Amino acid sequence: MGIKKKTFMAAAFYLLCFLSLLVEGFDRSEFPDSFLFGTATSSYQIEGAYLQGNKGLSNWDVLSHIPGKIDDSSNGDIADDHYHLYMDDIELMHSLGINSYRFSISWSRILPRDRFQGVNQDGIQFYNNLINALLLKGIEPFVTLNHNDIPQYLEDKYGAWLNPEIQKDFGYFAEVCFREFGDRVKYWATFNEPNIMVKKGYLTGTYPPLRCSAPFGECLSGNSSVEPYVAAHNVILSHGIVVEIYKKKYQAKQGGIIGIVMSTTWYEPLTNLTNDWVATKRLLAFDVPWFLDPIILGDYPSEMRQILGSNLPTFSSEDKKKLRYKIDFIGVNHYTTLYVRDCLYSLCEVMDFFNENAFTYTTGERNGIPIGTPTAMDTFYVVPRGLEMMVNYIKERYNNMPMFLTENGYAQGVSNYTTVKDFVNDMDRVDYLNQYLGMLLKTIRNGADVRGYFIWSMMDNFEWLYGYTLRFGLYHVDFTTQARTPKLSAMWYKKFLQGSDSLLKED
Ligand code: NOJ
Repeated sequence: MGIKKKTFMAAAFYLLCFLSLLVEGFDRSEFPDSFLFGTATSSYQIEGAYLQGNKGLSNWDVLSHIPGKIDDSSNGDIADDHYHLYMDDIELMHSLGINSYRFSISWSRILPRDRFQGVNQDGIQFYNNLINALLLKGIEPFVTLNHNDIPQYLEDKYGAWLNPEIQKDFGYFAEVCFREFGDRVKYWATFNEPNIMVKKGYLTGTYPPLRCSAPFGECLSGNSSVEPYVAAHNVILSHGIVVEIYKKKYQAKQGGIIGIVMSTTWYEPLTNLTNDWVATKRLLAFDVPWFLDPIILGDYPSEMRQILGSNLPTFSSEDKKKLRYKIDFIGVNHYTTLYVRDCLYSLCEVMDFFNENAFTYTTGERNGIPIGTPTAMDTFYVVPRGLEMMVNYIKERYNNMPMFLTENGYAQGVSNYTTVKDFVNDMDRVDYLNQYLGMLLKTIRNGADVRGYFIWSMMDNFEWLYGYTLRFGLYHVDFTTQARTPKLSAMWYKKFLQGSDSLLKED
């Protein structure tokens, strides 16, 4: 390490020591022994090699190549080149001291054409290599089967999530994964944030397949009042089928567990008016329970049925059979809290199209004062109490089912003036992670059955519509040279995992 860099790191440490005097610390030993501490990524965001190893095109390969769709006109063609650099990346994870790593499998790498045209052995080989190398380093693979990217042929052939046919295809893909990798993978998630995937894909139409209707967004075709709910219904049933396959054919012999990962924004009423309280409850129901109520409790929440009526599908007796097998855990991705204003009984000048079917308006500010410190991601504010509220909400609604905090992280913005040094000196992230992890510990002490914590993300990567303009990594990535540099947050996590107090102090 150069002298300049050393001095800079030392200065940063001292500043942290000072900060540490202001808040209370905790350490790893206060979490259960079996607790998973990890980092998270997803296939499209890090792998690159989009045309290598016989991979087929995914819906995100196609979308990111449409001019104007991604903020910085970038794509995931190369991303972190993790497909080639995975061994180095595992070394970095090992050096952090994590005991688990959450990643997703690219469906179009495993089944590049369709399910009738064979499994791609190169894809199988890649994930086998990855899984084996992780296990050799004592890192448990925590695998997501769907994290936004699906083979483009499913769109072209029959409209993907809008068609019940996808249930068979997803079931087939999942079974290939259980068969090939399940002897070593003990944690499976069917979907990552399907609530975001379908809203962006079919309500506002900014994610593939770019479907929506006015005034929700500008798309060539779609129906924002109907399609998000049809797509979600097929996601829920596809999930059910996959859980059934795992439970009936694989769980007993492979000994793993299976769940689903939701995006969980916490919401608070903007004012004390009853309408805003009711709207907050309603918006919460339109978000996580939209998926988890049918999966765990058997039907959609009543708040949704009241507003959506027949636009919300119903579960036929055939459908219900597909949901007979229950999940083992809930994956909680949590980053932020927002205020909610009612637009159903009250007059709103503006509505939030992302949530419009719930007739609400969400904002991060009350009378010009932000709900928490703003971050580079426009809707992400630092509000640790929101994590506590969310964990308790899920705990109560779903009878304290085991949870993993499958994502939590902090975005840094990119400008013409930010230097590598600025990115590496990420004390804001350390502060964020420290506060959220501390809050998580509080929920555990209060009885929540939380079994793991994964930081988003292991390294800077392709942030969907934002391209490379937001950086979430513990490691800084130079996207030209692919050099990875540990940020201060990586050092903080490492020290914490080694047993130091969460408030970073120099040895
Ligand atoms: C949630 C998503 O699962 C992940 O793909 C995304 O990059 C992070 N949040 C940050 O926005």
